[in-house]
Amino acid sequence: MKTYALVGAGYRGLWSYCEPIVQDYEDAARLVGVCDINWKRARLVGEYLRRDIPAYTDFDQMLREKKPDVVIVTTRDCAHEQYICKALEAGCDVITEKPMTTDDAMCAHILETERRTGHRVTVTFNCRFMDFYVKIKELLADGIVGDIFSVHYEWLLDTSHGADYFRRWHSIRANSGSLLIHKSTHHFDLANWFLDDEPVKVNAFGTRRFYGPVRKERGERCRDCPYRRSCEFYFDIDTEDGGRLKMLYKDCEDVDGYFRDRCLFSDVIDIEDSVSLNVRYAKGAVMSYSLTAHSPYECMKIVFNGARGRLECDNAFGVETIRFYDRDGQCATIDRSRVRQRPGGHGGSDPAMRDRLFRGWTEDPLHQMADTRAGAMSIGIGIAANKSVKEDRAVYLSEFLGDFYPEMKQH
Ligand SMILES: NC(=O)c1ccc[n+]([C@@H]2O[C@H](COP(=O)([O-])OP(=O)(O)OC[C@H]3O[C@@H](n4cnc5c(N)ncnc54)[C@H](O)[C@@H]3O)[C@@H](O)[C@H]2O)c1
Repeated sequence: MKTYALVGAGYRGLWSYCEPIVQDYEDAARLVGVCDINWKRARLVGEYLRRDIPAYTDFDQMLREKKPDVVIVTTRDCAHEQYICKALEAGCDVITEKPMTTDDAMCAHILETERRTGHRVTVTFNCRFMDFYVKIKELLADGIVGDIFSVHYEWLLDTSHGADYFRRWHSIRANSGSLLIHKSTHHFDLANWFLDDEPVKVNAFGTRRFYGPVRKERGERCRDCPYRRSCEFYFDIDTEDGGRLKMLYKDCEDVDGYFRDRCLFSDVIDIEDSVSLNVRYAKGAVMSYSLTAHSPYECMKIVFNGARGRLECDNAFGVETIRFYDRDGQCATIDRSRVRQRPGGHGGSDPAMRDRLFRGWTEDPLHQMADTRAGAMSIGIGIAANKSVKEDRAVYLSEFLGDFYPEMKQH
């Protein structure tokens, strides 16, 4: 039986870790403490789950008193590094939510601390457990397209899902590192995992023309906005998500002043809503990637062009499609119509990943569990892209990861 302490008692912390630990993994895991800068949210975990779970606002005190085997980090992205490193220094292993962190200096601190202390950090990339992506991974690992020469990759977030990033702390670069870190870390990790390769060089462009101060009719937040009756993006914090958001955020606002229904057209928003970039990989593949956070529909489209043909995959309108074109142009469709989505968060990927985290695993043939190297390579593309946009140049990942992985300097 391992003991776990969690820092960051928000949505992900409560419903993806604390609740499952006490309800589904009682035989394997014990939650010994929860910490948050917001004492109300920290306390809420025990109250909501009706368990005696000690709540802290002082992380060091929690570590001293509870001496957990493992610390789970589910704070805002920009705070991951301080807790990962403190936990490692205190002799704990760490499970951290993606993104591992948000910039190159904090990434270096994590890599250095992990090496020096010898304790282990696992980065939770739940997309690696989604059936659709597992199928793509298996096809590529079986060599369906042979050597991969190029990848064309597009993510579309609609104006419900995409907009929600602009209501929350994510919309401030200092918190999330931008969508290129916060959101695209999932996408870049999948690309690295699919290709079984590591990125070398990135060139990127980004703009924001849909959200931010692009219209006159705007307020500070939806709750007291004079335009709430006419705005198509009005968001009712009292009723959304069955009252969960009211309980977790609105009822805790008085402690830290954070509100979760910020106007999408606020002038404090400083992240891009459209990005486009190119990546060169170590084994020679090139990738074009774009992210759109204001699409009329949700979709992921990825195409692999290889020695044996072309694999086209997309999941528009909830229909998963995989087509393979051989060198003669013959098309074979891999039938996904009978694949049932598994129950549980994120298409069943969260429960599958939690089983691995809390019950352990002996075999991992598809390499679904990710370490700090995978964490660094996925945010590495985002960090390089952020630098590329800011400095208007192509950026090598070896500029900030080369000291840890000297082989990167050869490319
Ligand atoms: N893998 C996934 O699919 C997935 C999905 C959602 C969120 N996440 C990740 O989980 C993390 C939490 O996201 P969320 O949606 O739960 O956000 P949230 O805003 O609901 O929760 C974040 C919590 O962290 C706390 N916090 C912020 N700064 C802190 C600090 N310095 N010290 C201690 N606590 C601090 C906040 O008070 C809040 O309770 C993020 O890193 C996010 O990227 C991952």
